[in-house]
Amino acid sequence: MSNTATSSSDTKVLFEITEAHLDTGLRGLPVGTVLTSAVSPTEGVSYVGYPVADLAYHDPEAVVFLLFHKRLPDDKELVDFKADLAARSAVDPKVLDLLASLPRDGHPMEWLMAGLIFLGMTGRTGDWLEDSLNLVARSATLVANIFRIRAGWGAPIAPRPELGLVENCVHQMGVPGGDVARLNELLRVFYVLHMDHGGGNLSTFVGKAIASGHADVYTSLSGAMGGLYGPLHGRANQECLDFTREVGSTDPVQVERFTRETLASGGKIYGFGHAVLRAEDPRARIQYELGERLCPTDPLFRTAVVMREVCSRVLKENPKVANPYPNVDAVSGTLLNASGLSDSDYYTVLFGFSRIAGIAAQIVDERTVLREGKGVPIYRCKYIAKDQPARRIG
Ligand code: MLT
Repeated sequence: MSNTATSSSDTKVLFEITEAHLDTGLRGLPVGTVLTSAVSPTEGVSYVGYPVADLAYHDPEAVVFLLFHKRLPDDKELVDFKADLAARSAVDPKVLDLLASLPRDGHPMEWLMAGLIFLGMTGRTGDWLEDSLNLVARSATLVANIFRIRAGWGAPIAPRPELGLVENCVHQMGVPGGDVARLNELLRVFYVLHMDHGGGNLSTFVGKAIASGHADVYTSLSGAMGGLYGPLHGRANQECLDFTREVGSTDPVQVERFTRETLASGGKIYGFGHAVLRAEDPRARIQYELGERLCPTDPLFRTAVVMREVCSRVLKENPKVANPYPNVDAVSGTLLNASGLSDSDYYTVLFGFSRIAGIAAQIVDERTVLREGKGVPIYRCKYIAKDQPARRIG
């Protein structure tokens, strides 16, 4: 099979599809274009051309603006954009009542998926851009209350949108015993680092696919969060902290023994490797550096630092391992834990909080910008029927 072009203006062969590509989860197959970010196997992700490391300490809202407008805002535009998001941020009180009625043993990501649907039912406009910006703005209150209500930390706290997207979320979480300044510093960087990762990661792809059928932004993002929920995608950050706790030692010899035993028993070393990256993820490097500032003596953080070297070294011994290096999830959980968020079940919700902005920006592009504004048609790829000889009844 070869991907012969179908239109004369479209004749450049980008990729030769062979049978070996079938049933591989579309791995590496080009299916479209993306305007918000690019992933280089060796350099990591860039947002609209800026390496993520250059943006890590920017205002989260400036980076949201970048993904939606494809340029950074000037000072006045940033002030106006923050005010605009603040003005959009009110969440219908019914959403919090509905959250309070959810089963506590539902995973926080299930709460996030449900919460996004509740936001849609109570505030949808039907306009791709409006709904996307409203959703980004409202996600701070939704996410904070998933923590607060599900964990039983007390009644909802009145929002303060003027604080900023991340700060308003931290304020409304009201983490018991939490260090607000440290959480703000960490989550601002966390928010920027997790915002977007090219067009083809599972949650983004799913979100855009749902939007291609013209379901609204809220439904599309709820489906996207279902993709992010899996332990091979966003929930890896939860698994990583649990794994780091299991390693439980800063002694390189013991860490190496645990790593080898895990691999020998067929287990996975969470937080290492990536579908696209072939070098250490710059998002991991930034978080290791941040940890040295925020929680240098935290024992789990020290364990994660030892794992950075030891797990990579052990994984490198296997020539079949394409990427033995830490990824974005390797250390994020230890930083969250050291900042007062010790329940790893919630970590993927924070990943989702940030990724909502990137997926929503890509949905707006696919629906209203690409193909000279006509938008991408409904997704409909081809599956080749197998083991289905023709049959007749009777
Ligand atoms: C990531 O942020 O690393 C992802 O969303 C996973 C991917 O790119 O496939």
